[in-house]
Amino acid sequence: MCGIYGYVGSNAISKTLNGIKKLEYRGYDSSGIAFFSDTFKLNNLIKNYNNNVTTFKNGINIIKEQGEISKLEKIINVLNPKSETAIGHTRWATHGKPNIKNAHPHFSENGNWVVVHNGIIENYDELKNGLTSYNFSSSTDTEVVAMMLSKFFNGNVLETIVNVCSKLVGSYAFAILNYKEPNKIFVAKNNSPVVVGYGENFGVVCSDLNSVEQTKSLFILENNQFAVVEKNNVEVFNNKLEKINLKPFKDFNSESENSLGNYKHFMLKEINEIPKAIEKTVVNYNSFEKIKKAIPKSLIKKLKNILIIGCGTAYHAGLIGKKLIEEQCGIKTDVEIASEFRYNNFKPNKNTLAIFVSQSGETADTIKAVKMSKAYGLKTVAITNVKNSSICFEVDYVIHTCAGKEIAVASTKAYNAQITIFYLLKAYINAVLNDQPELVFEESKNLIKIANVIKNNKISEQTKQIALKIKDCKSVYLIGRGLDYYTAMEAGLKLKEISYIHCEAYPAGELKHGTISLIDENKYLFAFVTQEITKEKTISNINEVISRGGKVIVLSQFNINNNDFNEFIALPKIDQLYMPLVAITYMQLISYYVSVALNYNPDKPRSLAKSVTVE
Ligand code: M6R
Repeated sequence: MCGIYGYVGSNAISKTLNGIKKLEYRGYDSSGIAFFSDTFKLNNLIKNYNNNVTTFKNGINIIKEQGEISKLEKIINVLNPKSETAIGHTRWATHGKPNIKNAHPHFSENGNWVVVHNGIIENYDELKNGLTSYNFSSSTDTEVVAMMLSKFFNGNVLETIVNVCSKLVGSYAFAILNYKEPNKIFVAKNNSPVVVGYGENFGVVCSDLNSVEQTKSLFILENNQFAVVEKNNVEVFNNKLEKINLKPFKDFNSESENSLGNYKHFMLKEINEIPKAIEKTVVNYNSFEKIKKAIPKSLIKKLKNILIIGCGTAYHAGLIGKKLIEEQCGIKTDVEIASEFRYNNFKPNKNTLAIFVSQSGETADTIKAVKMSKAYGLKTVAITNVKNSSICFEVDYVIHTCAGKEIAVASTKAYNAQITIFYLLKAYINAVLNDQPELVFEESKNLIKIANVIKNNKISEQTKQIALKIKDCKSVYLIGRGLDYYTAMEAGLKLKEISYIHCEAYPAGELKHGTISLIDENKYLFAFVTQEITKEKTISNINEVISRGGKVIVLSQFNINNNDFNEFIALPKIDQLYMPLVAITYMQLISYYVSVALNYNPDKPRSLAKSVTVE
């Protein structure tokens, strides 16, 4: 997790600050910036800011703050320091509490080195044991690296960095300053993404290809590569200190920053963008020929099984995909949580197509699962929302959801776009297997209709009212069967991650096997009843909850409303196969309104990050 940005050139501090702001989706527990400046001694200027740590050693200043980057920005705006070399960091805590002491950058004790880090040093404890004469000021694994750099310094900065990295186990992208090299940023990479580049009078380092500014030449570092970034130049080396001529990355299209427009939060904006996200995704793949370009027909023809892998919301989209593909195409489909897949002993057969779902394309668990699947000899496909994200370089084939940049941590429009892809994929598989290419176009017409239904559906008032009703309850249960169960799972995740209300989703028939003992008049139950085949059985399960005093909110397109329901959400009467796309929009909005009613920031829920780049 965490974001790194560094800049050599004019206005390095504001460039770096803007850079880490773009990376805030990777974590926002704390942030910090280090910069060279001989004359700028912050400790004297900053007395008014008791809470933040500022340090000045050997010509390098560090300013750090706890919480969102806007807090760091405020200080920097007041102090207005100037520098031509800076590195910055936004953190998602892995080692040590999310406080100022643990915020990056980290000095070595002698102040000769400064380090910012993405990733996890797994052997940091062992390494720390060899550094007993050093005084540490944080609990991080990163500070250990700063101390090692000073311990092993042999007079050559790059050589020392390469040597220290050879002792590390784990994942890292480092940006490093050394007090004797005020015009350079040193970079090292192993299993955490990082790019380096330069343009007219500047050099840059960034942990995300899509957040870096336009450069003349941009290089994606590979594992065990090192770079020296300067104004107008970047040099890349291997771990034998041999210079490497990396090919500059060309297909580069920095996404512009999204603005809130008239919305108060990105989450609300993104929920409102769902119809557009579906439409754009469909337009990209609305014919047999278009999907064929992404996944060749030959691959589909020989496939026996499908394995879908993802985390969180992406995993839930995969569950919907499983149901669609298994039931509509007759192909056995398994779904795995990426972090579990790695450790179970399940070896899929070679004719399994492995599909990885990831909005960001940066999720470490999912990327690890891709690597394992490739080692098993499987063909791999990524469904991702971010072009040129790390996963795109790992898989054989890429399908893009075209939801547009998703900024709120809680995934909404990307989820709908992921499901949209599964509907299209289902159609494509059937088109190939039955030699009916027109199926893809027909499916795309159905999906566009659904996008219009969502667009014209006025659900704001009722969802707001329901949010106010449930906002103070301690526990929410969500039930459904089949597709409805998967919607319940995603709905529960949405509500809990931004409202902090305990939520649990269950297959409707499973409640009575234990969980129903928790139901009483203080609990709310959301029940999804959108599938004819399971309707009656789920209604029985709802009644069981009502009998035990539970308050029930039912979402259904069937005429099943009755006085025992606390609330009834009348879903639009559409083909029930497409209900997952529609029913979830109610729960996304309810979750949003609960979070706002509780005075939380739905865009940045506590302890989370948009992109989870540690395992
Ligand atoms: O970027 P990814 O789709 O790989 O992220 C996976 C999960 O971390 C993500 O879906 C998470 O569960 C959502 N933020 C929840 O809203």
